[in-house]
Amino acid sequence: MSTTFQLDTSTSRATPTPKPRKRLTVPRIRDHKKDGVTKEPLVMLTAYTARQAQLLDAHCDMLLVGDSLGQVIYGLDSTLPVTPEMMIAHGAAVVRGSYHSVVVVDMPFGSYEASKEQAFDTAARIMAETGCAAVKLEGGVAMAETIDFLTNRGIPVMAHVGLTPQAVNVLGGYAARGRSQQEHEKIIGDGQAVQEAGAFAVVIEGVVEPIAVALTKELEIPTIGIGASAQCDGQVLVTEDMLGMFERVPRFVKRYEDIAGMIDKTVEKYAEEVRARTFPTKDQTYQPKD
Ligand code: KIV
Repeated sequence: MSTTFQLDTSTSRATPTPKPRKRLTVPRIRDHKKDGVTKEPLVMLTAYTARQAQLLDAHCDMLLVGDSLGQVIYGLDSTLPVTPEMMIAHGAAVVRGSYHSVVVVDMPFGSYEASKEQAFDTAARIMAETGCAAVKLEGGVAMAETIDFLTNRGIPVMAHVGLTPQAVNVLGGYAARGRSQQEHEKIIGDGQAVQEAGAFAVVIEGVVEPIAVALTKELEIPTIGIGASAQCDGQVLVTEDMLGMFERVPRFVKRYEDIAGMIDKTVEKYAEEVRARTFPTKDQTYQPKD
């Protein structure tokens, strides 16, 4: 499903040209898995800003405006204080910065659990104010009625089961789930319930591998793994984690780069040059006769 175009971002910070080809759609993502088989796994990463979306878009099938922005962007302890307003501001930026990927925006804690009507109001607002194609919500069996209500009213839903960070206080932490038989069965049941309710895909986070493998085999909808299994129908990571913006990351993250180290070295050099008055030079200053 991956792309064939190159973004040319040279003309303007806000408007890369040329405008690449048409955006992928939710039905295309859903139908990427045919008769229970996915040939090429789906690629998904989180994005929170327009520029980040521009850089990721050509390589991804889906961009997730995750409520992980609470920790990553706002320095919060958990995703719990994240608000719909935060999700909408970042969601709209990511839609503006992308042309190709399906943009999915997380429904934040407290904005959808009370009733299916509350969920509809929040999801409709997120979709109308961001232009995203779908929302994501956490929960399995408990959210099935809500997923059914939303999908029957024009709102595509990506579900999220296993380790669900919004339930950190019930789960007692961020440890991998599904080590007991009871938990194993619960997560399998959650996956089945969200498919039955109409979710077009399901994120499976932080579970022991056999659960992710079993759900991927059993479900007709694509499973998107994070700390799950390479056998899932797709993978998602928090972009800042895989780029190496943070020293401490969960075990399931591969740090492909050391961006934090690069920023540290670059800013150290800038500070040295400012203090030595070797920046700015003539090249970066305006003269009357230029
Ligand atoms: O909020 C988020 O970034 C997520 C992913 C980690 C799946 O839900």
